[in-house]
Amino acid sequence: MQTIHTIEALRTARTRLRGRLALVPTMGALHDGHLNLVREAKARAAHVAVSIFVNPRQFGANEDLDAYPRQLARDCALLEPIGVDIVWAPSAAEMYPAGYATNVSVSGVSEGLCGAERPGHFDGVATVVCKLFNQVRPDLALFGEKDWQQLAVIRRMVRDLDLPFPREISGSPTVREADGLALSSRNAYLSADDRTRAAILPAAMKKAIAEISGGKAVPEALNRLIAALLSGGFAAVDYAELRDAETFAPLTERPTDFARLLVAARIGGTRLIDNMEAWSG
Ligand code: PAF
Repeated sequence: MQTIHTIEALRTARTRLRGRLALVPTMGALHDGHLNLVREAKARAAHVAVSIFVNPRQFGANEDLDAYPRQLARDCALLEPIGVDIVWAPSAAEMYPAGYATNVSVSGVSEGLCGAERPGHFDGVATVVCKLFNQVRPDLALFGEKDWQQLAVIRRMVRDLDLPFPREISGSPTVREADGLALSSRNAYLSADDRTRAAILPAAMKKAIAEISGGKAVPEALNRLIAALLSGGFAAVDYAELRDAETFAPLTERPTDFARLLVAARIGGTRLIDNMEAWSG
């Protein structure tokens, strides 16, 4: 496994790889959710590259860029036994050299939900992922479905810009702890008490989905979900919405097609997001 920090070295390493290459883009602080993606990449391609880059452009001014966990040595130790070929770990100056001036902005799917709460976030994601795709030129790229809106933004960007790489984008189901909490690098910020309380998020989401499927009005089920989170220890709910899984159109009626329940809520200063399939036929 080669850990590479410069674009020039990456180019040389990339041209040496023959056969299908899969890329798993990450910001490091790897957990089992990431490692599952890497294992899936390994099963689906001859070669695997993992990018580790804490992307400053996707953090807002008052967000946790400086505090975001950086643990490259530990991350590499987790990746090596899986058989990863390349760890692409550029510095911020390598990714955005002096004079850098280009932004990729995807409208529509970037709006609302996390886009409304985190202005500029999805521009930052689209910009860095576009660069990662051009740098690594993967045949396949794998992302977790936990960031459902992010995945929709990336798919739209690749289609709209006719990017030649990757030919395939794959979303993998969210990996969860035994109590249902979605794995996230940000879970590490939770105190022990808040970690225990955070499990109410997936539980309340499941209940809302069951209520909607059972015929309860969507706004009522969502209000009950918000009330359950606030009484269960969450300080605020940024959004709790039912959306069409493809178009992202907000749904206020019981869905007749594939739908997704998406929630972002804050507990003890940490913002957690989750989403679940909420289909009703
Ligand atoms: O999901 C993430 O970890 C990041 O948003 C990504 C896709 C690696 C871009 O920085």
